[in-house]
Amino acid sequence: MKVVIPAAGLGTRFLPLTKASPKEMMPIIDRPTIHYVVEEAVESGVDDILIVIGKGKHIIEDYFDRSWELENHLSINGKRALLPLITKIPDMASFHFIRQNSPKGLGDAVGLGRDHVGNEFFAVMLGDNITVSPVPVLKQLMDVHERTGGSVIGVERVGQDRVSQYGIVSGRMVGNGLIKVDSLVEKPSIEEAPSDIAITGTYVLSPTIFKLLKSTAPGKHGEIQLTDALNELAQQEDVYAYEFEGHRYDVGDVTGWLKTQIEFAVADPRYGDDICKFITEVIDRKCKER
Ligand code: G1P
Repeated sequence: MKVVIPAAGLGTRFLPLTKASPKEMMPIIDRPTIHYVVEEAVESGVDDILIVIGKGKHIIEDYFDRSWELENHLSINGKRALLPLITKIPDMASFHFIRQNSPKGLGDAVGLGRDHVGNEFFAVMLGDNITVSPVPVLKQLMDVHERTGGSVIGVERVGQDRVSQYGIVSGRMVGNGLIKVDSLVEKPSIEEAPSDIAITGTYVLSPTIFKLLKSTAPGKHGEIQLTDALNELAQQEDVYAYEFEGHRYDVGDVTGWLKTQIEFAVADPRYGDDICKFITEVIDRKCKER
């Protein structure tokens, strides 16, 4: 199975930083967010990755390419021990890139994968979600696809107050954590939301979605929404939502990114002790004053 990673968005929730720097390159500890996404794909058995980039995003291509100068520099300057950190990145998978030439939305970006993917089921992974789970989330969705033969969307319950930030699904439970989807709506108001079951950003999709995306009119925020095309797909083919096992970190906004950074640092054996001590100090020094 091939995976499409849309990474062409403008990242307006991170302005002004994203004026000149892709949000997919925001670090979590010492690796960019998109590195974790690619790792999850690879750990799920995917070895063909298409990344949809846009203006100003060429450093994502550079990151997954070899860097001869840097390799040379490390080799001749007694830093050979650092080499594996950078040489293994281009070998993680077979990387392909395509450009979205104007910000027409997630649906448009996924649609650009049509020629590369062909007439097969494929995966979509959004660049601003990182999941820590016993089995990679994409693998969990691929297993559900194997069992059901349908498209599968990773979901989690978010609570009524957050439904307007996500694509929301409605349907009926047909198994443990498995929902047969009737309809989907992109970022509804609390009043309109049919449930609190939110799309988290990992999908296994039927190639029919490409045809549907072609005729999907601009929706929420004037953009071509993947959720709108999925709603159409659910009327024609089996679409399931799966409440996967694992903890999702939404790094798409500043608060989510900060929380992820802190939690990953605490869990990291290299930095955990220091950071925990620091957090305790900060609570005493700053948080109690607030
Ligand atoms: C996108 C999707 C939305 C999904 C969300 C998950 O929205 O359109 O359906 O719930 O990702 O993060 P975005 O966050 O790009 O606005």
